[in-house]
Amino acid sequence: MMLYTVVWLCLVGAGAASKVLVVFPVPDRAHSDLGDALVRTLLAGGHEVTYVSVFPKKTTNLNLTYADISSVLTPQSANEKNHKSMLYSRQPAHHILKAGPQYAQYALHHEALKKLLYDPSVAFDAVIVDWFYSGLLAPLASLFECPLIWYVHGDVSWHSLRLVHEEASPAYSVDLLSGHMPTLPFSTKERAYGLGLQVYYSFWMYYIEHFVEIPAYDAIFRTPMQLRKRLLPPYEAVAYNGSLLLVNSHPPLGQTLPLPQNTKLIGGHHIREPIKLLPKSLQAFMDNAKNGVIFMNLGNLQGKLPNQLKTQILDALSQLDRLVLWHLEDAVEYVPKNIRLLDRAPQLSILKHHNTELFITDGSLTSLMEAVHCGVPFVAVPSSGEQLVNVDLLVGRGLGRKVDVTKYLPWTLEGAIREILRDASYRTNMQRASSVFKRRITPSNSEFLYWVELVISTGGAAHLRSPAVAVPTLERYHVDLWILAALILWFLSKVVKVVQVHLKDLEKKNK
Ligand SMILES: *[C@@H]1O[C@H](CO)[C@@H](O)[C@H](O)[C@H]1NC(C)=O
Ligand SMILES: *[C@@H]1O[C@H](CO)[C@@H](O)[C@H](O)[C@H]1NC(C)=O
Repeated sequence: MMLYTVVWLCLVGAGAASKVLVVFPVPDRAHSDLGDALVRTLLAGGHEVTYVSVFPKKTTNLNLTYADISSVLTPQSANEKNHKSMLYSRQPAHHILKAGPQYAQYALHHEALKKLLYDPSVAFDAVIVDWFYSGLLAPLASLFECPLIWYVHGDVSWHSLRLVHEEASPAYSVDLLSGHMPTLPFSTKERAYGLGLQVYYSFWMYYIEHFVEIPAYDAIFRTPMQLRKRLLPPYEAVAYNGSLLLVNSHPPLGQTLPLPQNTKLIGGHHIREPIKLLPKSLQAFMDNAKNGVIFMNLGNLQGKLPNQLKTQILDALSQLDRLVLWHLEDAVEYVPKNIRLLDRAPQLSILKHHNTELFITDGSLTSLMEAVHCGVPFVAVPSSGEQLVNVDLLVGRGLGRKVDVTKYLPWTLEGAIREILRDASYRTNMQRASSVFKRRITPSNSEFLYWVELVISTGGAAHLRSPAVAVPTLERYHVDLWILAALILWFLSKVVKVVQVHLKDLEKKNK
Protein backbone atom coordinates (compact mmCIF):
# COMPACT_ATOMS: atom_id res chain seq x y z
CA MET A 1 0.00 0.00 0.00
CA MET A 2 2.87 2.29 0.97
CA LEU A 3 4.63 1.60 -2.33
CA TYR A 4 1.42 2.18 -4.25
CA THR A 5 1.03 5.63 -2.71
CA VAL A 6 4.64 6.58 -3.33
CA VAL A 7 4.53 5.51 -7.00
CA TRP A 8 1.22 7.27 -7.43
CA LEU A 9 2.54 10.52 -6.00
CA CYS A 10 5.68 10.36 -8.13
CA LEU A 11 3.62 10.07 -11.28
CA VAL A 12 1.08 12.68 -10.38
CA GLY A 13 2.37 16.04 -11.34
CA ALA A 14 5.19 14.67 -13.46
CA GLY A 15 3.67 16.10 -16.64
CA ALA A 16 2.56 19.63 -17.37
CA ALA A 17 -1.17 20.37 -17.14
CA SER A 18 -2.96 19.60 -20.40
CA LYS A 19 -6.47 19.99 -21.78
CA VAL A 20 -8.05 16.65 -22.50
CA LEU A 21 -11.37 15.88 -24.18
CA VAL A 22 -12.87 12.59 -22.97
CA VAL A 23 -15.81 11.20 -24.99
CA PHE A 24 -18.01 8.38 -23.66
CA PRO A 25 -21.07 8.22 -25.93
CA VAL A 26 -22.44 4.76 -25.06
CA PRO A 27 -25.66 5.05 -23.05
CA ASP A 28 -24.68 2.38 -20.54
CA ARG A 29 -23.61 2.82 -16.92
CA ALA A 30 -20.84 0.24 -17.18
CA HIS A 31 -19.15 2.38 -19.85
CA SER A 32 -19.61 5.65 -18.06
CA ASP A 33 -18.30 4.23 -14.76
CA LEU A 34 -15.05 3.44 -16.56
CA GLY A 35 -15.05 6.91 -18.13
CA ASP A 36 -15.53 8.44 -14.67
CA ALA A 37 -12.50 6.48 -13.48
CA LEU A 38 -10.33 7.76 -16.34
CA VAL A 39 -11.45 11.32 -15.72
CA ARG A 40 -10.73 10.99 -11.99
CA THR A 41 -7.18 9.92 -12.80
CA LEU A 42 -6.65 12.74 -15.30
CA LEU A 43 -7.89 15.29 -12.75
CA ALA A 44 -5.64 13.83 -10.07
CA GLY A 45 -2.79 14.24 -12.57
CA GLY A 46 -3.51 17.98 -12.69
CA HIS A 47 -5.13 18.01 -16.14
CA GLU A 48 -8.11 19.99 -17.30
CA VAL A 49 -10.85 17.69 -18.58
CA THR A 50 -13.87 18.25 -20.78
CA TYR A 51 -15.99 15.15 -20.39
CA VAL A 52 -18.72 14.22 -22.87
CA SER A 53 -20.94 11.97 -20.78
CA VAL A 54 -24.40 10.41 -20.87
CA PHE A 55 -24.44 10.24 -17.06
CA PRO A 56 -22.89 13.50 -15.80
CA LYS A 57 -22.46 13.94 -12.06
CA LYS A 58 -22.42 17.03 -9.89
CA THR A 59 -18.92 18.37 -9.51
CA THR A 60 -17.20 21.27 -7.82
CA ASN A 61 -13.85 20.62 -9.46
CA LEU A 62 -13.05 23.63 -11.63
CA ASN A 63 -10.79 21.51 -13.82
CA LEU A 64 -13.72 19.36 -14.94
CA THR A 65 -16.30 20.57 -17.48
CA TYR A 66 -19.14 18.29 -18.51
CA ALA A 67 -20.65 18.23 -21.96
CA ASP A 68 -23.95 16.77 -20.84
CA ILE A 69 -25.45 14.49 -23.51
CA SER A 70 -27.85 12.70 -21.16
CA SER A 71 -30.79 13.47 -23.46
CA VAL A 72 -29.54 10.79 -25.91
CA LEU A 73 -30.99 8.27 -23.47
CA THR A 74 -34.50 8.77 -24.86
CA PRO A 75 -34.13 7.32 -28.37
CA GLN A 76 -32.04 4.51 -26.89
CA SER A 77 -34.60 3.33 -24.36
CA ALA A 78 -37.25 3.15 -27.09
CA ASN A 79 -35.30 0.26 -28.62
CA GLU A 80 -35.35 -1.81 -25.47
CA LYS A 81 -38.86 -3.21 -25.67
CA ASN A 82 -38.12 -6.76 -26.69
CA HIS A 83 -36.11 -7.73 -23.60
CA LYS A 84 -38.02 -10.88 -22.79
CA SER A 85 -37.84 -12.38 -26.27
CA MET A 86 -34.13 -11.53 -26.34
CA LEU A 87 -33.63 -13.45 -23.13
CA TYR A 88 -33.87 -16.97 -24.44
CA SER A 89 -32.48 -16.39 -27.91
CA ARG A 90 -29.08 -15.44 -29.23
CA GLN A 91 -29.08 -12.08 -31.06
CA PRO A 92 -27.22 -11.75 -34.35
CA ALA A 93 -24.20 -9.68 -33.49
CA HIS A 94 -23.98 -7.34 -36.47
CA HIS A 95 -26.61 -5.09 -34.87
CA ILE A 96 -23.84 -3.95 -32.53
CA LEU A 97 -21.82 -2.86 -35.58
CA LYS A 98 -24.72 -0.60 -36.48
CA ALA A 99 -25.22 0.62 -32.90
CA GLY A 100 -21.63 1.93 -32.72
CA PRO A 101 -21.95 4.65 -35.40
CA GLN A 102 -25.45 5.36 -34.09
CA TYR A 103 -24.18 6.22 -30.59
CA ALA A 104 -21.36 8.28 -32.08
CA GLN A 105 -23.84 10.25 -34.17
CA TYR A 106 -26.19 10.84 -31.23
CA ALA A 107 -23.24 12.41 -29.44
CA LEU A 108 -21.89 14.38 -32.40
CA HIS A 109 -25.30 15.81 -33.26
CA HIS A 110 -25.89 16.83 -29.66
CA GLU A 111 -25.91 20.55 -28.85
CA ALA A 112 -23.42 20.08 -26.03
CA LEU A 113 -20.80 18.69 -28.40
CA LYS A 114 -21.75 20.94 -31.33
CA LYS A 115 -20.87 23.91 -29.15
CA LEU A 116 -17.28 22.66 -29.08
CA LEU A 117 -17.22 21.71 -32.77
CA TYR A 118 -18.49 25.07 -34.01
CA ASP A 119 -16.25 27.23 -31.81
CA PRO A 120 -12.86 27.66 -33.54
CA SER A 121 -11.31 28.93 -30.31
CA VAL A 122 -11.80 25.57 -28.58
CA ALA A 123 -8.59 23.53 -28.44
CA PHE A 124 -7.37 20.35 -26.75
CA ASP A 125 -4.05 18.59 -26.22
CA ALA A 126 -5.54 15.11 -26.58
CA VAL A 127 -8.85 13.39 -27.26
CA ILE A 128 -9.71 10.13 -25.47
CA VAL A 129 -12.57 8.23 -27.06
CA ASP A 130 -14.46 5.21 -25.76
CA TRP A 131 -14.34 2.92 -28.79
CA PHE A 132 -17.57 1.10 -29.50
CA TYR A 133 -17.54 -0.51 -32.94
CA SER A 134 -17.14 2.76 -34.81
CA GLY A 135 -14.39 5.12 -35.93
CA LEU A 136 -16.72 8.07 -36.25
CA LEU A 137 -15.45 9.91 -33.17
CA ALA A 138 -11.84 9.83 -34.39
CA PRO A 139 -12.21 13.01 -36.49
CA LEU A 140 -12.58 14.99 -33.23
CA ALA A 141 -8.83 14.69 -32.75
CA SER A 142 -8.22 15.79 -36.30
CA LEU A 143 -10.54 18.77 -35.84
CA PHE A 144 -8.83 19.88 -32.64
CA GLU A 145 -5.40 19.09 -34.14
CA CYS A 146 -4.28 16.87 -31.32
CA PRO A 147 -3.45 13.16 -30.82
CA LEU A 148 -6.23 10.56 -30.68
CA ILE A 149 -6.33 7.98 -27.89
CA TRP A 150 -8.74 5.04 -28.10
CA TYR A 151 -10.08 3.40 -24.98
CA VAL A 152 -11.61 -0.08 -25.21
CA HIS A 153 -13.99 -0.92 -22.37
CA GLY A 154 -13.50 -4.68 -22.78
CA ASP A 155 -10.82 -7.02 -23.99
CA VAL A 156 -8.90 -6.25 -27.16
CA SER A 157 -10.19 -7.95 -30.32
CA TRP A 158 -9.53 -7.93 -34.04
CA HIS A 159 -12.16 -5.18 -34.38
CA SER A 160 -10.29 -2.75 -32.15
CA LEU A 161 -6.77 -3.88 -33.10
CA ARG A 162 -7.34 -2.96 -36.74
CA LEU A 163 -7.63 0.71 -35.72
CA VAL A 164 -3.95 0.88 -34.80
CA HIS A 165 -2.42 -2.30 -36.20
CA GLU A 166 -4.03 -5.19 -38.10
CA GLU A 167 -6.79 -7.73 -37.59
CA ALA A 168 -5.81 -10.47 -35.14
CA SER A 169 -5.78 -13.84 -36.87
CA PRO A 170 -8.81 -16.12 -36.44
CA ALA A 171 -6.29 -18.96 -36.22
CA TYR A 172 -5.76 -18.11 -32.53
CA SER A 173 -8.26 -15.41 -31.57
CA VAL A 174 -12.04 -15.34 -31.49
CA ASP A 175 -14.43 -12.57 -32.27
CA LEU A 176 -15.76 -11.23 -28.96
CA LEU A 177 -19.26 -11.21 -30.41
CA SER A 178 -19.14 -14.83 -31.57
CA GLY A 179 -20.62 -16.02 -28.28
CA HIS A 180 -18.23 -18.89 -27.69
CA MET A 181 -14.53 -19.39 -26.97
CA PRO A 182 -13.28 -22.80 -28.14
CA THR A 183 -10.15 -24.18 -26.45
CA LEU A 184 -6.81 -23.65 -28.16
CA PRO A 185 -5.56 -24.94 -30.55
CA PHE A 186 -8.67 -24.46 -32.67
CA SER A 187 -9.95 -27.29 -34.81
CA THR A 188 -10.19 -26.81 -38.58
CA LYS A 189 -13.94 -26.32 -38.25
CA GLU A 190 -13.49 -23.65 -35.57
CA ARG A 191 -10.89 -21.83 -37.65
CA ALA A 192 -13.13 -21.96 -40.69
CA TYR A 193 -16.00 -20.56 -38.63
CA GLY A 194 -13.79 -17.80 -37.20
CA LEU A 195 -12.48 -16.85 -40.61
CA GLY A 196 -15.97 -16.90 -42.10
CA LEU A 197 -17.24 -14.66 -39.31
CA GLN A 198 -14.34 -12.24 -39.78
CA VAL A 199 -14.99 -12.04 -43.52
CA TYR A 200 -18.73 -11.61 -42.92
CA TYR A 201 -18.16 -8.79 -40.42
CA SER A 202 -15.57 -7.22 -42.72
CA PHE A 203 -18.25 -6.84 -45.40
CA TRP A 204 -20.58 -5.28 -42.86
CA MET A 205 -17.82 -2.96 -41.69
CA TYR A 206 -16.97 -1.98 -45.25
CA TYR A 207 -20.61 -1.20 -45.89
CA ILE A 208 -21.00 0.79 -42.66
CA GLU A 209 -17.78 2.72 -43.16
CA HIS A 210 -18.63 3.74 -46.73
CA PHE A 211 -22.37 4.22 -46.54
CA VAL A 212 -22.91 5.34 -42.94
CA GLU A 213 -19.73 6.74 -41.42
CA ILE A 214 -18.23 8.60 -44.36
CA PRO A 215 -21.46 10.47 -45.22
CA ALA A 216 -21.95 11.24 -41.52
CA TYR A 217 -18.33 12.40 -41.25
CA ASP A 218 -18.87 14.71 -44.19
CA ALA A 219 -22.10 16.12 -42.81
CA ILE A 220 -20.84 16.62 -39.27
CA PHE A 221 -17.26 17.80 -39.74
CA ARG A 222 -17.17 19.77 -43.00
CA THR A 223 -18.50 23.04 -41.57
CA PRO A 224 -16.49 22.94 -38.33
CA MET A 225 -13.36 22.33 -40.43
CA GLN A 226 -14.23 25.26 -42.70
CA LEU A 227 -14.71 27.48 -39.64
CA ARG A 228 -11.12 26.58 -38.76
CA LYS A 229 -10.08 27.37 -42.37
CA ARG A 230 -9.08 23.78 -43.11
CA LEU A 231 -10.06 21.14 -45.61
CA LEU A 232 -11.73 17.90 -44.59
CA PRO A 233 -9.06 15.14 -44.69
CA PRO A 234 -10.06 11.74 -46.13
CA TYR A 235 -11.92 9.64 -43.55
CA GLU A 236 -9.41 6.74 -43.62
CA ALA A 237 -6.53 9.11 -42.81
CA VAL A 238 -8.40 10.24 -39.72
CA ALA A 239 -10.08 7.05 -38.47
CA TYR A 240 -6.88 4.97 -38.53
CA ASN A 241 -4.72 7.68 -36.99
CA GLY A 242 -4.96 6.68 -33.32
CA SER A 243 -1.81 7.23 -31.27
CA LEU A 244 -2.71 4.80 -28.53
CA LEU A 245 -5.14 1.99 -27.85
CA LEU A 246 -5.82 1.61 -24.14
CA VAL A 247 -7.45 -1.68 -23.25
CA ASN A 248 -9.45 -2.32 -20.10
CA SER A 249 -8.11 -5.81 -19.64
CA HIS A 250 -5.06 -7.55 -18.23
CA PRO A 251 -3.78 -11.10 -17.91
CA PRO A 252 -5.16 -13.43 -16.63
CA LEU A 253 -8.36 -12.01 -18.13
CA GLY A 254 -8.82 -11.76 -21.87
CA GLN A 255 -7.26 -13.57 -24.80
CA THR A 256 -3.67 -12.29 -24.28
CA LEU A 257 -3.28 -11.51 -27.97
CA PRO A 258 0.06 -10.28 -29.37
CA LEU A 259 -0.08 -6.47 -29.35
CA PRO A 260 1.68 -3.57 -31.11
CA GLN A 261 3.77 -1.11 -29.08
CA ASN A 262 1.02 1.49 -28.84
CA THR A 263 -1.56 -0.83 -27.31
CA LYS A 264 -1.52 -0.92 -23.52
CA LEU A 265 -3.46 -3.07 -21.08
CA ILE A 266 -4.67 -0.90 -18.21
CA GLY A 267 -7.30 -3.26 -16.79
CA GLY A 268 -8.02 -2.59 -13.12
CA HIS A 269 -7.60 1.18 -13.48
CA HIS A 270 -11.12 1.71 -12.09
CA ILE A 271 -10.31 -0.09 -8.84
CA ARG A 272 -9.55 2.49 -6.18
CA GLU A 273 -7.16 1.31 -3.47
CA PRO A 274 -7.67 1.19 -0.58
CA ILE A 275 -11.07 -0.36 -1.21
CA LYS A 276 -13.83 1.44 0.70
CA LEU A 277 -15.05 0.04 4.01
CA LEU A 278 -18.45 -1.63 4.15
CA PRO A 279 -21.37 0.15 5.78
CA LYS A 280 -21.48 -0.84 9.50
CA SER A 281 -24.54 -3.12 9.42
CA LEU A 282 -23.34 -4.97 6.34
CA GLN A 283 -19.88 -5.34 7.87
CA ALA A 284 -21.40 -6.92 10.99
CA PHE A 285 -23.61 -9.18 8.88
CA MET A 286 -20.64 -10.43 6.88
CA ASP A 287 -18.31 -10.76 9.90
CA ASN A 288 -20.87 -13.05 11.55
CA ALA A 289 -21.34 -15.27 8.50
CA LYS A 290 -19.20 -18.10 9.83
CA ASN A 291 -20.21 -20.45 7.01
CA GLY A 292 -19.31 -17.92 4.35
CA VAL A 293 -21.16 -15.47 2.12
CA ILE A 294 -22.33 -15.74 -1.47
CA PHE A 295 -22.70 -12.44 -3.29
CA MET A 296 -24.98 -12.17 -6.30
CA ASN A 297 -25.15 -9.28 -8.75
CA LEU A 298 -26.62 -10.06 -12.13
CA GLY A 299 -26.23 -6.52 -13.50
CA ASN A 300 -28.34 -5.73 -16.55
CA LEU A 301 -29.65 -9.30 -16.74
CA GLN A 302 -31.65 -8.71 -13.55
CA GLY A 303 -34.19 -6.46 -15.25
CA LYS A 304 -34.77 -9.09 -17.94
CA LEU A 305 -35.54 -12.01 -15.60
CA PRO A 306 -39.25 -12.82 -15.17
CA ASN A 307 -40.47 -12.51 -11.56
CA GLN A 308 -41.33 -16.17 -11.29
CA LEU A 309 -37.72 -17.07 -12.12
CA LYS A 310 -36.51 -14.71 -9.40
CA THR A 311 -38.74 -16.40 -6.82
CA GLN A 312 -37.45 -19.79 -7.90
CA ILE A 313 -33.86 -18.56 -7.62
CA LEU A 314 -34.57 -17.33 -4.07
CA ASP A 315 -36.00 -20.75 -3.30
CA ALA A 316 -32.94 -22.55 -4.67
CA LEU A 317 -30.57 -20.24 -2.75
CA SER A 318 -32.48 -20.86 0.48
CA GLN A 319 -31.40 -24.52 0.25
CA LEU A 320 -27.76 -23.52 0.81
CA ASP A 321 -26.22 -23.33 4.28
CA ARG A 322 -24.58 -20.00 3.37
CA LEU A 323 -25.64 -16.41 3.77
CA VAL A 324 -26.52 -14.84 0.45
CA LEU A 325 -26.35 -11.16 -0.46
CA TRP A 326 -28.32 -10.32 -3.57
CA HIS A 327 -28.08 -6.94 -5.23
CA LEU A 328 -31.71 -6.68 -6.31
CA GLU A 329 -33.61 -3.46 -6.70
CA ASP A 330 -37.15 -4.82 -7.17
CA ALA A 331 -39.41 -5.85 -4.30
CA VAL A 332 -39.92 -9.57 -3.72
CA GLU A 333 -42.85 -11.09 -1.77
CA TYR A 334 -40.94 -13.46 0.43
CA VAL A 335 -37.27 -13.42 1.32
CA PRO A 336 -35.84 -16.60 2.91
CA LYS A 337 -33.94 -16.28 6.20
CA ASN A 338 -30.42 -16.80 4.84
CA ILE A 339 -30.84 -14.18 2.13
CA ARG A 340 -30.46 -10.44 2.31
CA LEU A 341 -31.47 -8.19 -0.57
CA LEU A 342 -29.48 -5.02 -1.12
CA ASP A 343 -30.69 -2.20 -3.28
CA ARG A 344 -27.20 -0.70 -3.30
CA ALA A 345 -24.22 -3.00 -3.08
CA PRO A 346 -20.61 -1.85 -2.76
CA GLN A 347 -19.43 -4.73 -4.93
CA LEU A 348 -15.68 -4.43 -4.43
CA SER A 349 -15.96 -4.06 -0.67
CA ILE A 350 -18.17 -7.16 -0.46
CA LEU A 351 -15.86 -9.21 -2.68
CA LYS A 352 -12.89 -8.09 -0.62
CA HIS A 353 -14.41 -9.37 2.65
CA HIS A 354 -12.64 -12.50 3.93
CA ASN A 355 -15.93 -14.39 4.36
CA THR A 356 -16.98 -14.00 0.70
CA GLU A 357 -16.74 -17.41 -0.88
CA LEU A 358 -18.46 -17.03 -4.19
CA PHE A 359 -19.60 -14.34 -6.62
CA ILE A 360 -22.59 -14.84 -8.90
CA THR A 361 -22.26 -12.42 -11.82
CA ASP A 362 -23.56 -11.61 -15.29
CA GLY A 363 -20.00 -11.95 -16.60
CA SER A 364 -19.29 -8.35 -17.60
CA LEU A 365 -15.55 -7.86 -17.82
CA THR A 366 -15.48 -5.29 -15.03
CA SER A 367 -17.23 -7.65 -12.62
CA LEU A 368 -14.98 -10.57 -13.56
CA MET A 369 -12.00 -8.28 -13.11
CA GLU A 370 -13.13 -7.35 -9.62
CA ALA A 371 -13.62 -11.04 -8.79
CA VAL A 372 -10.09 -11.77 -10.02
CA HIS A 373 -8.71 -8.77 -8.12
CA CYS A 374 -10.23 -10.06 -4.88
CA GLY A 375 -9.53 -13.75 -5.63
CA VAL A 376 -13.18 -14.89 -5.39
CA PRO A 377 -14.36 -17.74 -7.68
CA PHE A 378 -17.52 -17.10 -9.67
CA VAL A 379 -20.61 -18.56 -11.23
CA ALA A 380 -21.49 -16.48 -14.28
CA VAL A 381 -24.81 -16.19 -16.05
CA PRO A 382 -23.71 -14.47 -19.27
CA SER A 383 -26.43 -13.37 -21.65
CA SER A 384 -25.08 -10.98 -24.21
CA GLY A 385 -22.30 -9.81 -26.48
CA GLU A 386 -18.86 -10.10 -25.07
CA GLN A 387 -19.89 -11.65 -21.73
CA LEU A 388 -20.13 -15.13 -23.24
CA VAL A 389 -16.54 -15.09 -24.48
CA ASN A 390 -15.18 -13.43 -21.31
CA VAL A 391 -16.75 -16.11 -19.19
CA ASP A 392 -15.67 -19.04 -21.41
CA LEU A 393 -12.08 -17.85 -21.17
CA LEU A 394 -12.06 -17.77 -17.38
CA VAL A 395 -14.02 -21.01 -17.05
CA GLY A 396 -11.34 -22.59 -19.25
CA ARG A 397 -8.74 -21.38 -16.74
CA GLY A 398 -10.57 -23.05 -13.87
CA LEU A 399 -11.65 -19.82 -12.17
CA GLY A 400 -15.38 -20.43 -12.13
CA ARG A 401 -18.43 -21.96 -13.79
CA LYS A 402 -20.86 -20.85 -16.44
CA VAL A 403 -24.63 -21.28 -16.30
CA ASP A 404 -26.85 -20.61 -19.30
CA VAL A 405 -29.94 -18.45 -19.15
CA THR A 406 -32.78 -20.95 -19.52
CA LYS A 407 -35.96 -21.64 -17.60
CA TYR A 408 -33.96 -24.20 -15.57
CA LEU A 409 -31.65 -21.42 -14.34
CA PRO A 410 -32.51 -21.77 -10.61
CA TRP A 411 -31.49 -25.45 -10.54
CA THR A 412 -28.45 -25.27 -12.82
CA LEU A 413 -27.31 -22.27 -10.78
CA GLU A 414 -27.66 -24.18 -7.52
CA GLY A 415 -25.71 -27.11 -9.00
CA ALA A 416 -22.87 -24.85 -10.11
CA ILE A 417 -22.75 -23.13 -6.71
CA ARG A 418 -22.50 -26.45 -4.87
CA GLU A 419 -19.76 -27.60 -7.25
CA ILE A 420 -17.64 -24.52 -6.55
CA LEU A 421 -18.18 -24.68 -2.78
CA ARG A 422 -17.19 -28.38 -2.81
CA ASP A 423 -14.10 -28.14 -5.02
CA ALA A 424 -11.31 -26.04 -3.48
CA SER A 425 -9.37 -25.85 -6.76
CA TYR A 426 -11.51 -22.95 -8.01
CA ARG A 427 -10.45 -20.83 -5.06
CA THR A 428 -6.79 -21.82 -5.40
CA ASN A 429 -6.79 -20.99 -9.12
CA MET A 430 -8.53 -17.71 -8.47
CA GLN A 431 -6.03 -16.68 -5.82
CA ARG A 432 -3.18 -17.46 -8.16
CA ALA A 433 -4.88 -15.42 -10.86
CA SER A 434 -5.38 -12.61 -8.39
CA SER A 435 -1.70 -12.40 -7.54
CA VAL A 436 -0.82 -12.34 -11.25
CA PHE A 437 -3.41 -9.64 -11.91
CA LYS A 438 -2.10 -7.43 -9.12
CA ARG A 439 1.59 -7.89 -9.89
CA ARG A 440 2.36 -4.73 -11.88
CA ILE A 441 5.33 -2.50 -12.37
CA THR A 442 3.06 0.37 -11.49
CA PRO A 443 -0.67 0.69 -10.69
CA SER A 444 -2.72 0.77 -13.87
CA ASN A 445 -4.10 4.27 -13.41
CA SER A 446 -0.64 5.75 -13.10
CA GLU A 447 0.28 3.74 -16.18
CA PHE A 448 -2.70 5.26 -17.95
CA LEU A 449 -1.56 8.74 -16.98
CA TYR A 450 1.98 7.98 -18.08
CA TRP A 451 0.95 6.94 -21.61
CA VAL A 452 -1.47 9.82 -22.07
CA GLU A 453 1.20 12.31 -21.01
CA LEU A 454 3.74 10.62 -23.25
CA VAL A 455 1.42 10.89 -26.24
CA ILE A 456 0.74 14.56 -25.51
CA SER A 457 4.36 15.51 -24.98
CA THR A 458 5.57 13.72 -28.13
CA GLY A 459 2.76 15.05 -30.31
CA GLY A 460 1.24 11.64 -31.01
CA ALA A 461 3.92 9.09 -30.06
CA ALA A 462 4.77 8.34 -33.70
CA HIS A 463 7.63 6.12 -32.47
CA LEU A 464 5.15 3.61 -31.03
CA ARG A 465 2.97 3.18 -34.10
CA SER A 466 2.66 -0.14 -35.86
CA PRO A 467 3.71 -0.13 -39.52
CA ALA A 468 0.95 -2.67 -40.17
CA VAL A 469 -1.83 -0.10 -39.93
CA ALA A 470 -0.85 1.42 -43.28
CA VAL A 471 -0.64 -1.91 -45.13
CA PRO A 472 -3.78 -2.93 -47.05
CA THR A 473 -5.24 -6.33 -46.14
CA LEU A 474 -4.55 -7.85 -49.57
CA GLU A 475 -0.88 -6.92 -49.30
CA ARG A 476 -0.66 -8.13 -45.72
CA TYR A 477 -1.74 -11.59 -46.79
CA HIS A 478 0.41 -11.29 -49.95
CA VAL A 479 -2.63 -11.97 -52.09
CA ASP A 480 -1.02 -10.16 -55.03
CA LEU A 481 2.18 -12.19 -54.66
CA TRP A 482 0.27 -15.48 -54.35
CA ILE A 483 -1.59 -14.64 -57.54
CA LEU A 484 1.66 -13.70 -59.27
CA ALA A 485 3.28 -16.94 -58.09
CA ALA A 486 0.30 -18.94 -59.33
CA LEU A 487 0.52 -17.21 -62.73
CA ILE A 488 4.25 -17.93 -62.97
CA LEU A 489 3.69 -21.58 -62.07
CA TRP A 490 0.91 -21.83 -64.62
CA PHE A 491 3.14 -20.23 -67.25
CA LEU A 492 6.05 -22.56 -66.38
CA SER A 493 3.80 -25.61 -66.60
CA LYS A 494 2.81 -24.48 -70.10
CA VAL A 495 6.48 -24.01 -71.04
CA VAL A 496 7.31 -27.48 -69.72
CA LYS A 497 4.47 -28.94 -71.77
CA VAL A 498 5.65 -27.22 -74.94
CA VAL A 499 9.21 -28.41 -74.34
CA GLN A 500 7.96 -31.96 -73.71
CA VAL A 501 5.98 -31.97 -76.97
CA HIS A 502 8.98 -30.57 -78.77
CA LEU A 503 11.32 -33.23 -77.33
CA LYS A 504 8.88 -36.01 -78.29
CA ASP A 505 8.79 -34.64 -81.85
CA LEU A 506 12.59 -34.63 -81.94
CA GLU A 507 12.69 -38.25 -80.67
CA LYS A 508 10.22 -39.32 -83.39
CA LYS A 509 12.29 -37.61 -86.06
CA ASN A 510 15.51 -39.21 -84.79
CA LYS A 511 13.88 -42.67 -85.00
C1 LIG B 1 -6.59 22.30 -11.55
O1 LIG B 1 -5.46 22.23 -12.41
C2 LIG B 1 -4.38 23.06 -12.04
C3 LIG B 1 -3.32 22.90 -13.08
O2 LIG B 1 -3.88 23.11 -14.35
C4 LIG B 1 -3.87 22.65 -10.66
O3 LIG B 1 -2.82 23.51 -10.26
C5 LIG B 1 -5.01 22.69 -9.67
O4 LIG B 1 -4.58 22.20 -8.43
C6 LIG B 1 -6.18 21.88 -10.16
N1 LIG B 1 -7.30 22.04 -9.27
C7 LIG B 1 -7.92 20.98 -8.71
C8 LIG B 1 -9.09 21.29 -7.85
O5 LIG B 1 -7.55 19.82 -8.90
C1 LIG C 1 -2.64 12.06 -37.35
O1 LIG C 1 -2.13 12.20 -36.03
C2 LIG C 1 -0.97 12.99 -35.92
C3 LIG C 1 -0.53 12.96 -34.45
O2 LIG C 1 -1.54 13.38 -33.61
C4 LIG C 1 -1.24 14.39 -36.42
O3 LIG C 1 -0.06 15.16 -36.38
C5 LIG C 1 -1.79 14.34 -37.84
O4 LIG C 1 -2.15 15.62 -38.28
C6 LIG C 1 -3.00 13.43 -37.90
N1 LIG C 1 -3.48 13.30 -39.27
C7 LIG C 1 -4.69 13.69 -39.65
C8 LIG C 1 -5.04 13.48 -41.08
O5 LIG C 1 -5.48 14.18 -38.88
